[in-house]
Amino acid sequence: MIKVAVLGYGTVGSGVVEVIERNHTKVNASAGEELQVKYILDLRDFPGDPWEEKVVHDYQVILADDEVSIICETMGGVGAAYQFTKQALEAGKSVCTSNKELVAKHGAELLAVAAANHCNYMFEASVGGGIPIIRTINSSLTAEKLEAVVGILNGTTNYILTQIQENPEADYAESLKAAQELGYAERNPAADVEGHDACRKVAILSSLMAGRNVDPEKIYTEGITNVSRADFDFALAEGMTIKLLALSRIEEDGRLLAMVAPFMLPMTHPLARVNDVFNGILVTGNMLGDAMLYGRGAGKLPTASAVAADVIECGRNPSRTVVRGWTQEEAGLADIGETCRRFFVRARISRREAVEAAFPGGKVCAQLENHNDCAVITPKLSEKEFEARYSALGDAVLGRIRLL
Ligand code: HSE
Repeated sequence: MIKVAVLGYGTVGSGVVEVIERNHTKVNASAGEELQVKYILDLRDFPGDPWEEKVVHDYQVILADDEVSIICETMGGVGAAYQFTKQALEAGKSVCTSNKELVAKHGAELLAVAAANHCNYMFEASVGGGIPIIRTINSSLTAEKLEAVVGILNGTTNYILTQIQENPEADYAESLKAAQELGYAERNPAADVEGHDACRKVAILSSLMAGRNVDPEKIYTEGITNVSRADFDFALAEGMTIKLLALSRIEEDGRLLAMVAPFMLPMTHPLARVNDVFNGILVTGNMLGDAMLYGRGAGKLPTASAVAADVIECGRNPSRTVVRGWTQEEAGLADIGETCRRFFVRARISRREAVEAAFPGGKVCAQLENHNDCAVITPKLSEKEFEARYSALGDAVLGRIRLL
């Protein structure tokens, strides 16, 4: 019998218990023996919950119990979650988590602790919710040199952007509230809308790709708070949409270019059709070319299913470290100021001439009815050059979005 403890009985933790219970025949068959949740750690009590008798408040009870070989860390945060994870791994108990903040910040160290103690630190649910992107990279693309990943990695912001795209009346605050009610948003939704959640996820993918540690603090990150209805109106008229993308690419000099920002992309691009809570991740390998994974990027049961799959993998591999992940050596990051692309610029109609003159060779977007703003798409410029010209325009400009 494989005995498991779940730390944190919130959205994902309760989902893990539900997946193991509702699918117990399949879960046990996959694990090769019966898998049972022995403890649930939480500060709260859950009177009336079918699993209330499993709830404990003291982590030491779990740590001291030799029967427990696998722990699901679904608490979130980098405080107690870090301490508890490290202690579990040092005691030889495998840990499976959805905690992208912790994996992005301390993943390299925790992977090393797991390897030293012949157990596993697994984090499938930390990127892309229910999409098996980590296992795909670790188990399926093992003959590939991965060159790039581009993805929609945050379900909450994709849900909000889809609402704005599809419904002219959609309100930003109401769309965010709906995403929170559906269980997609982080406890502090600023992590979603300001891009930090996608940044942590792309830091994890970048670290896996590079085999070295990518510090999320060093990744250029912009969220969706400046994307407006007017931006969408122009984008749609140009046959494009706007998505919050996370990019990571290994440059020719071996450095890694990683960033998170809203991008305009043609409706014909595969990521343009990834809507609502769905995530899409386009992976490029040197032999494979492109492969795309698509699925629910947030939500209780899809995320819990990914944690449960990690639990099963740990159960199948007792006392054996399956995945080594990446080392603690820092990966070198490229300067995004040197990268070149086109930009969409929205400006006051009264300043159209100045804006067009700042970006000669650009494309002037068709004027939209009932709009007192205008827009141009610049020729290809380096980020540095664009920012210099854009900021020189002062209050003539109302916003800018990169083109993919
Ligand atoms: N808040 C996250 C999202 C949850 O919206 O994608 C899944 O990591």
